[in-house]
Amino acid sequence: MTQLTNHHSKLFQTMEDRHSVKQYEKGFDISEQEKKQMLTAATLAPSAWNLQHWKFLVIEAEEKKEQLLPIAYNQSQVVESSFTVAVLGDLEANKNAEAVYQTAVENRLMPEEVKNTLVGQINGAYERGGTFARDAAFLNASLAAMNIMLAAKGLGYDTCPIGGFNGAEFVKAFHVPERYVPVMLITVGKAAKPAYPSSRFSLEDVVVKNSF
Ligand SMILES: Cc1cc2nc3c(=O)[nH]c(=O)nc-3n(C[C@H](O)[C@H](O)[C@H](O)COP(=O)(O)O)c2cc1C
Repeated sequence: MTQLTNHHSKLFQTMEDRHSVKQYEKGFDISEQEKKQMLTAATLAPSAWNLQHWKFLVIEAEEKKEQLLPIAYNQSQVVESSFTVAVLGDLEANKNAEAVYQTAVENRLMPEEVKNTLVGQINGAYERGGTFARDAAFLNASLAAMNIMLAAKGLGYDTCPIGGFNGAEFVKAFHVPERYVPVMLITVGKAAKPAYPSSRFSLEDVVVKNSF
């Protein structure tokens, strides 16, 4: 297993310590304040044009966790963890542009005409159709998801990203509006058992310099 050497850095330590935990202390309560810290960390992720293509559906009520269980193919972590965050991607993130840039204009950080040009470019990209909106939703929401996992670890909790769930059923059961696409579920809680060991390819295997 590759070791990041600089353990003086808390961030590096946190990245190395994060692993996908699948068994949690059932009933462990994480405070609202800590939940907010994790979700705030999620919102600090970068996003294209700062459109913040994400929505976080926090599933914490027992009956909602039970409802999620079969949708997540009976992965018991969704009922045993403290809560699950469904990270949703925004398929119409261009609709955020006006609000995002208006603040900059009001704070005199951006001239009105620059805002109008940007909003025009963004709407243009979204109006061209194809896979653009869906790609952008997955790409940007995934960066927020990573922040949730690292923030949870930083607070002493563990997580597991889950792609194994039925998206169509999820949308139906949790009344997800058409505007959003489920990207991944993240279970969060206090580990009852450590993660299964995992390995990584070496840098020699994954790094290419300058060009293939
Ligand atoms: C997009 C994505 C989907 C995943 N789906 C599942 C899943 O459905 N169930 C599960 O137990 N783990 C799932 N995982 C966890 C991976 O198996 C795990 O991240 C990988 O084996 C590396 O191990 P580590 O996270 O413990 O370092 C998923 C991870 C990612 C990034």
